[in-house]
Amino acid sequence: MCGIVGYNGNRLVVPILVQSLKKLEYRGYDSAGLAVFNEKKKIEIKKSSGRISALEEKVKEIKYGNCGIGHTRWATHGEPTEVNAHPHFSDDKSVAVVHNGIIENFSELKTKLEKNGYKFYSQTDTEVLTKLIHYYWKKYGKPMDALARIQLRAIGSYAICVMFNTEPDVLYCVKKDNPMVIGINGKESFVASDASAIAQYTNCVYYLDNHEMARVRKGEIEFYTIDQEPIKKQIKVLDITNQNSDKGDYAHYMLKEIYEQPTIQKQLINEYTKNNSVNFSKLGIEFSEYSEIEEIHIIGCGSAYHVGLCAKPVIESVAKIKTQVHIASEFRYQAPIVSKNSLVIAISQSGETADTIACVEYAKENGLKTLGVVNCIGSTMTQKVDKCIYTNAGQEIAVATTKAYTAQLLIMYLFTIMLAKGKGTITAQTEKNELIELSQISQKMKIELENVEQLKHFASLKYNQKEVFFLGRGIDYASGEEGSLKLKEISYIHSECFAAGEMKHGTISLVQPDTLIIGITTQKNTTAKTLGNLIEVKSRGACVVCISDVIDEQIKKASNYIILIPKTNEKYSPLLSVIPMQLLAYYIALNKGEDIDKPRNLAKSVTVE
Ligand code: F6R
Repeated sequence: MCGIVGYNGNRLVVPILVQSLKKLEYRGYDSAGLAVFNEKKKIEIKKSSGRISALEEKVKEIKYGNCGIGHTRWATHGEPTEVNAHPHFSDDKSVAVVHNGIIENFSELKTKLEKNGYKFYSQTDTEVLTKLIHYYWKKYGKPMDALARIQLRAIGSYAICVMFNTEPDVLYCVKKDNPMVIGINGKESFVASDASAIAQYTNCVYYLDNHEMARVRKGEIEFYTIDQEPIKKQIKVLDITNQNSDKGDYAHYMLKEIYEQPTIQKQLINEYTKNNSVNFSKLGIEFSEYSEIEEIHIIGCGSAYHVGLCAKPVIESVAKIKTQVHIASEFRYQAPIVSKNSLVIAISQSGETADTIACVEYAKENGLKTLGVVNCIGSTMTQKVDKCIYTNAGQEIAVATTKAYTAQLLIMYLFTIMLAKGKGTITAQTEKNELIELSQISQKMKIELENVEQLKHFASLKYNQKEVFFLGRGIDYASGEEGSLKLKEISYIHSECFAAGEMKHGTISLVQPDTLIIGITTQKNTTAKTLGNLIEVKSRGACVVCISDVIDEQIKKASNYIILIPKTNEKYSPLLSVIPMQLLAYYIALNKGEDIDKPRNLAKSVTVE
């Protein structure tokens, strides 16, 4: 989603802004822009719709300016046009603003400003915010007065970086419910909505908290409360400078990230186990903290929610703790009944998903323990939860998650084993056996990734499909949900996953000759039933692909194609069944010629509701 960058130092500002914006490209955007103080100390703005390369072309002649702001916009209010792109200007060109978030009462504020003579040219809430800042600045006299005042009037979420023409070597920042990071390196200061944008320049950062304001000079940053009282903030040193964001020989980041999975699985086992036992002690996480837990609530969106679906039956059967899985955007508005001894586990790759963060806040307000399973170091969620397990999958650039998904799964299994061992529902020997099983996943994934010809061929036959259904039961159903999401998000083929037993209760009416059905059968107690459902659709003309860890007569009878995956303990099968589904989605999208790493309308980090 939208990204903010800013620079104030002694180097030429434009290349730094462009380089920083490029680091945010993966998050998804549809227009970009920047503002710099020019040689006459006036603010100059350049914008373009489409890719950053288009903006880069427009600004390549700008060889002046050491202070400026930049933005990538993912359209919310109004189309992705140049006029709607940020930065936005006040009419007299004295204030320029970039903004992430949504101002919910922008219509009401716009009416107020119109009554005061302001004119509007774009459809955005950000133009309203810009003019509101201008209005209060003119009324009260100082930039900080204006920034304090808008916080009392604007309802919604925002991270804002502002330039005022009266202070040509200062940037101002303020935030509420949207991340904002300010980095420092010697005589240079950097602003970003995501530390990865400025990691190439510095790893020393401050995180703004809600309603804090910052005055950013060259290598000098002052922080203030909304009452304009100075505050001292702690600098954080981030370990993100060595993130490998190069595509290497891979055609797409998604493919590269799919192939990174065996290594990540292996590293995570090494990182979080010791002497045949799960060990999160380096993160300050011990079983004793969770010994009283009676219920677990897992929260996530999209693929992170699917991780929860796969983990729930494992937690319940192994650690014997009642577990519920919630879609974050539903949980936050349902005032759910959650017992006092509950643990809320928030799963998020980005650590910036607005709905999931809101659930963590809800949990904390209600006195519940919170645990994050997060990939992005230093992200907002990592600072909100009581404890956090990092998935350490490295920067994930493709919008469709792959390596972070399987890393989240593994962490959830390891955490379950820790709980079970602590509660005495498994023995030390069982713990050891489970870890041996999990440590073999890496090698099994490798085998899957070395044998992709069948999938490639199948994708070349079926890429024109109008719709695809996934069928499975229990854990296979949970895993199918992820396969279906992968396919629809990058190939734009309509796809749904159904609990196989539900098919006959309505959905089977959609099955026609050549409908593509992907069945997943890795669970002993349900495979025969699922195969029965696959035979039903096959006999109605569907083309059935079966992802299975065995090949036998029954499976042959039920399917047209079989994708054989390695065997593992069946509760961990999602780690292996998802690999062919990721690859199938990838190769189908490739055959269709889609923009795999940046699928239309999607953002990597969903920072608004
Ligand atoms: C799907 C995908 C999304 C994310 C979801 C949550 O491939 O990437 O469904 O899983 O937007 O994002 P995070 O994990 O960043 O909270």
